[in-house]
Amino acid sequence: MAAEKTLDNLFLDTLKDIYYAEKQILKTLPKMARAAQSEEGKASFLQHRDETQGQIERIEQVFELLGKPARGKTCEAIQGIIAEGEEIMDEYKGSVALDAGLISSAQAVEHYEIARYGTLIEWAGQLGMDEAVELLQQNLAEEEATDQKLTELARASANQKAAKSA
Ligand SMILES: [Fe+2]
Ligand SMILES: [Fe+2]
Repeated sequence: MAAEKTLDNLFLDTLKDIYYAEKQILKTLPKMARAAQSEEGKASFLQHRDETQGQIERIEQVFELLGKPARGKTCEAIQGIIAEGEEIMDEYKGSVALDAGLISSAQAVEHYEIARYGTLIEWAGQLGMDEAVELLQQNLAEEEATDQKLTELARASANQKAAKSA
C-alpha cells in the first residue's frame, strides 16, 4: 500500500538506484578511457573508475548499516545517459570533437550522481543515519571533484581541439 510508504522506503529504493548506476558506470569508464584520444582524458576516466570501485564499497556499507542486502534496482536514467555516451563514441569516432563529446557524456553521468547523492545525504540526515551521511558525503565529494576536473579538461584542450576543422 502506497499509504504505508515512508522516507525509509524512498531512501532504500534510491540507494538501490545509485548502486545499480555505479555498477553500470564502473563498466563504462574503461570503454570511455579506451575511446578517449588525449592521455589526460584516458587517465581521468581510469582514475574515476578506481574511485567508482571504492564508491560501490561505501554504498555496500550503507546497505549493511540498514541491515539490508546490497541489491541494485534497474535505473533507466543512467542507462539512457550511458547509451547517449555510446552514441557519441560511435558517431564521433576519429573526429576532433570526440573528446569534447566524451567529456560532455561523463559530466551528464556526474550530474546524475551528484543529484542522487545530494538527496540521499539529506534523507540519511533526516533518518538520523550519521554514518551513512558520512559515507555518502565521501562519494559526493569525489563526484564533484570529477565534474570539476572534467570542466578543466574541456576548457584546457578538448573544446578548442573540437572547434578546429579537421
Ligand atoms: Fe560514482
Ligand atoms: Fe562519478
